Amino acid sequence: MVTGPPREWDAASYDSLPLPHKRWGARLLATLPLDGDEVVLDAGAGTGRDTEALLRRLPHGRVIAVDGSQAMLSRLRERLAGVPSDRLTVLHADLRERLPLDRPVDAVFSVATLHWLPDHRSVFARLRSALRAGGRLAAEFGGHGNLAAVDAALTDLGLPSVNGQLTFATAESTRAALAAAGFTDVDVDLRPDPAVFTERDQLEAFLAVVVLGTVLDPLPSTERRRVVLAVAARLPRPEVDYVRLTVHARAGDSSRPDVRSA
Ligand SMILES: C[S@@+](CC[C@H](N)C(=O)[O-])C[C@H]1O[C@@H](n2cnc3c(N)ncnc32)[C@H](O)[C@@H]1O
Repeated sequence: MVTGPPREWDAASYDSLPLPHKRWGARLLATLPLDGDEVVLDAGAGTGRDTEALLRRLPHGRVIAVDGSQAMLSRLRERLAGVPSDRLTVLHADLRERLPLDRPVDAVFSVATLHWLPDHRSVFARLRSALRAGGRLAAEFGGHGNLAAVDAALTDLGLPSVNGQLTFATAESTRAALAAAGFTDVDVDLRPDPAVFTERDQLEAFLAVVVLGTVLDPLPSTERRRVVLAVAARLPRPEVDYVRLTVHARAGDSSRPDVRSA
């Protein structure tokens, strides 16, 4: 599990990559019904690509962009420099803890983030606490079976797996965690969604910046490139074998006795 403060990211390199996150974010946003005046929490907003798209959908609303990486948020602030403060709140916070919000939000939106957090029952309970009753959760993140080929390569190299450090949950355990946290109208989908790279150097850069972060962080910088090349060489195809969980749910009535505060 990832312990200590949330890790820092190479935000400039992240934004320069052909990220599958772009289509994941656009796809998820298309499924979130919005009237245009809501307050939406972007949980793990990163460099703000989807925060910006959310703001376009909310001409009379507001986005609260939360992330644990100062580097990602500084890029987000640059991207959204012209947005007035009554439309955007940027919050440097750890999603493993209760969020310091003044009032409940209308929706929580999250792309490629929740698998970074341990104990999804507590994660969903905290997100439920952040939402008004009836508010919507729309999230997508890595699920059971994610990065199996990457992990096989790491195991072959005698290195720790990504799966051992992040939470790649099953659809069943996700449904149970959402119900236990007080969500209703729960819809959970788990499916393979590989990211295919046409250029070898882009695959290697993507592995280095996005996929292998937790494996590379503890290694001396001189070792990291060698590991990236060795993993890339062991993959059966020039692709990252993502398996994605997509979650839609509504916050139930928090006065119900089985909804515990987190
Ligand atoms: C793969 S990036 C996704 C960013 C953005 N949603 C996107 O689609 O490009 C994962 C994000 O989760 C954030 N994150 C991971 N663990 C976190 C934590 N414990 N608290 C807050 N943010 C966290 C990272 O800082 C990073 O910005």
